[in-house]
Amino acid sequence: MANIEKIFFSPSSTTKKVVEEIANNFSYKKESFDLLNFNSEKEFSSDDIAVVGMPVFAGRIPKTARERLEKIKGDNTPAIAVVNYGNAHVTDALLELVDLLKENSFNVVAAASTVSHHSIFDGVAVGRPDFDDLEKINDFAKKCAEKIKSGEGLSSEIPGNRPYVDYKQLPFTVSCDETLCAFCYDCVSACPENAIPDDDPIDTDLDLCSRCSACIHICPEDARMFSGEAFEAKKPEFENANSERKEPEFYL
Ligand SMILES: Cc1cc2nc3c(=O)[nH]c(=O)nc-3n(C[C@H](O)[C@H](O)[C@H](O)COP(=O)(O)O)c2cc1C
Ligand code: SF4
Ligand code: SF4
Repeated sequence: MANIEKIFFSPSSTTKKVVEEIANNFSYKKESFDLLNFNSEKEFSSDDIAVVGMPVFAGRIPKTARERLEKIKGDNTPAIAVVNYGNAHVTDALLELVDLLKENSFNVVAAASTVSHHSIFDGVAVGRPDFDDLEKINDFAKKCAEKIKSGEGLSSEIPGNRPYVDYKQLPFTVSCDETLCAFCYDCVSACPENAIPDDDPIDTDLDLCSRCSACIHICPEDARMFSGEAFEAKKPEFENANSERKEPEFYL
């Protein structure tokens, strides 16, 4: 009996939302693998169906997410690959995700790039995925289900280049406003890089931090934020350059 395996890395929760939207079009039992904290070996069978979602980080899939996904193998398991980006650029991320899933013995039957709010520059793609996005995503999911039933493979070309663009660390600071912090330690548990010390949630080790935004989005007091001169200088320019709406793309 097939399980739907939802696999995602989703620091600000929109990639998870897209994966769940797709998965809900299948009436099988569902399991979740949240790569913010799941970091173990796993293998699926050819009866399972994987829905795998990654956010785009500087044109790639996030380095830590990649390392965790490398431990998850298929056995000719049908897979739907999705990268979710902030209305700027996908660059090589979708190609990288499809390549990695194939290397891990998944049978990638379909792929998509979807647009969601920008998790750093919060003036970009506000409110997305919206109603129109979700309608398109559900239509895509139904086509995926038909393809899997008929045993058809992926026939579309996936955009991107090999070698992929190099990983780039963003020069922004992640900081915490001590006066707002309630010391709930949610950010400590959410951080995939162990960059926030267990005994001091005010601190962030910027050498370890990948700027993923998980701590910022989970904080119930809005105490954590992107900050610093580089961030403040880039924000208006970036938001202006990426204000025009982009649409999701689907590959079957
Ligand atoms: C470190 C970092 C780098 C990002 N790089 C890109 C990018 O190259 N292109 C883009 O369109 N969006 C980029 N984004 C925005 C995210 O891809 C987008 O907000 C995505 O929806 C986040 O998914 P999540 O809600 O699951 O965390 C970046 C976000 C972060 C945190
Ligand atoms: S400290 Fe850095 S790596 Fe950790 S959750 Fe926050 S943004 Fe992500
Ligand atoms: S999640 Fe926010 S309130 Fe809780 S410890 Fe972290 S910074 Fe403080």
